[in-house]
Amino acid sequence: MSNSAPSSRAAVFLAFSLVWFSSHVLTAGHPDYADALAKSLLFFQGQRSGRLPPDQAVKWRSNSAMSDGSAANVDLTGGYYDGGNNVKFNFPMAFTATMLSWSIIEYGGRMDGRVHDARAAVRWATDYLLKSAKATPGKLYVGVGDADADHRCWERPEDMDTPRDVYAVSASAPGSDVAGETAAALAAASVVFRAADRAYSRRLLAAARDVMAFAWQHQGKYSDHVGGGVGNYYPSHSGYKDELLWGCAWLLWATKNSSYLNDLISLGANDDLDVFSWDNKLAGARVLLSRRALLDGDERLEPFTRQAEEFICHILPNSSSPSSTTAYTPGGLMHRPGNVNMQYVASASFLLTTYAKYMAASRRRAFSCQNSRPVTHRNLRALAKRQVDYVLGDNPLGMSYMVGYGARYPQRIHHRASSMPSVAAHPAHIGCQEGYRSYLNAPGPNPNVHTGAVVGGPDENDAFPDDRVDYARSEPVTYTNAPLVGCLAYFAGSYKN
Ligand SMILES: *[C@@H]1O[C@H](CO)[C@@H](O)[C@H](O)[C@H]1NC(C)=O
Ligand SMILES: *[C@@H]1O[C@H](CO)[C@@H](O)[C@H](O)[C@H]1NC(C)=O
Repeated sequence: MSNSAPSSRAAVFLAFSLVWFSSHVLTAGHPDYADALAKSLLFFQGQRSGRLPPDQAVKWRSNSAMSDGSAANVDLTGGYYDGGNNVKFNFPMAFTATMLSWSIIEYGGRMDGRVHDARAAVRWATDYLLKSAKATPGKLYVGVGDADADHRCWERPEDMDTPRDVYAVSASAPGSDVAGETAAALAAASVVFRAADRAYSRRLLAAARDVMAFAWQHQGKYSDHVGGGVGNYYPSHSGYKDELLWGCAWLLWATKNSSYLNDLISLGANDDLDVFSWDNKLAGARVLLSRRALLDGDERLEPFTRQAEEFICHILPNSSSPSSTTAYTPGGLMHRPGNVNMQYVASASFLLTTYAKYMAASRRRAFSCQNSRPVTHRNLRALAKRQVDYVLGDNPLGMSYMVGYGARYPQRIHHRASSMPSVAAHPAHIGCQEGYRSYLNAPGPNPNVHTGAVVGGPDENDAFPDDRVDYARSEPVTYTNAPLVGCLAYFAGSYKN
């Protein structure tokens, strides 16, 4: 670069403007991340199944599915509904618990008073996952509720009268995908509760070890064995090697037992990819393992660091990375075709802030994507912040995609309990078909504001119809909020009001 006077004046001016701009943004222009964090956690209360506790703050929900498990003479009450329906799908529920746990492990120190709520959100899932793992020796329960029958009804969970069949995997009908994810969830949660509740943490870890051994010894895909639509709604398209890697990575963290390290290296799970989701955990496992490589100097894990960076090179915008494979809307939101785009935005943003954190704490100053300009931890944080800010309303429509946050947010989310009057407001039973006629297809806003629910989000052109029937854009899911909790805590700690 030339050092002539005019260009250095320009550089000083530019630097001055940037400082002004960023300090302006720091003090006034950024979203209220702490408020969004509190709301993102409240969302999980609205998704609760089973008997609600006395401190339940979301009052438009009541007890539901109180005899779940009775079809197999076991207690499988509790856990979460994944989105706007009334089925308990353990596969995405376990992923939710893993990501909530990871959020607390990395960012719990930035949650202030909210860490208690965050742990409660994990525990609501892990209490249920423990039942699923322990209720019947030799079986892992993987879901409750006939998903096809449930999707033919628009009913409040409290009124639900569709069959509550239970589904399980076993040695003769294996499911290493759901078992690997369940082991990951239990192991990650055991780290969360290590100081807060030592006895609970030990129970979680013991169950995690058993479930991981089962996943490893009896390999298969649960959707090949499990009926009732449960395996069809959430089949692991990516197979189960990614969950075996992820489960071993979490058990390695929780136990420090190097047999999990040997196992995970032996998997040779090397697919190149640009997505991290309830289906495919490879990118998450790579970032998680890179922590050990970058911070503890474990050289056997170096290949995972490289793969984590390749993933990031795929999700960066094409202006910063020649190997980008990720589209962005004109307003700057990452966009994948298909349903519930915000899940990918939230999980990718979590990996960006987390990898940035590991880089900043290690000597990894920068990496490059096929000879791109060096990518630093600051670049990763800036991209994650752009995504989170978009979710919270910094977008062409000025629309917050988190219900109850900001001045404008979705009014007609695709969610049975939110779209129908509460049992307190309307005690009489509302039947399956009446729900469709009177509530799903009603034009007005939902009667119950599902505070903190983050919907699927806008289309590839930043447009959002706010249409209850449009589940791809209007349904909130637990596995969007779970990684978002971590990002919000991270930014809440960096930009205090
Ligand atoms: C490590 O894990 C393996 C496999 O689960 C187990 O066989 C072994 O006993 C464990 N080692 C220790 C020291 O706990
Ligand atoms: C870069 O990304 C933008 C936005 O997603 C897209 O419109 C453009 O075609 C891409 N350019 C290249 C060279 O891929």
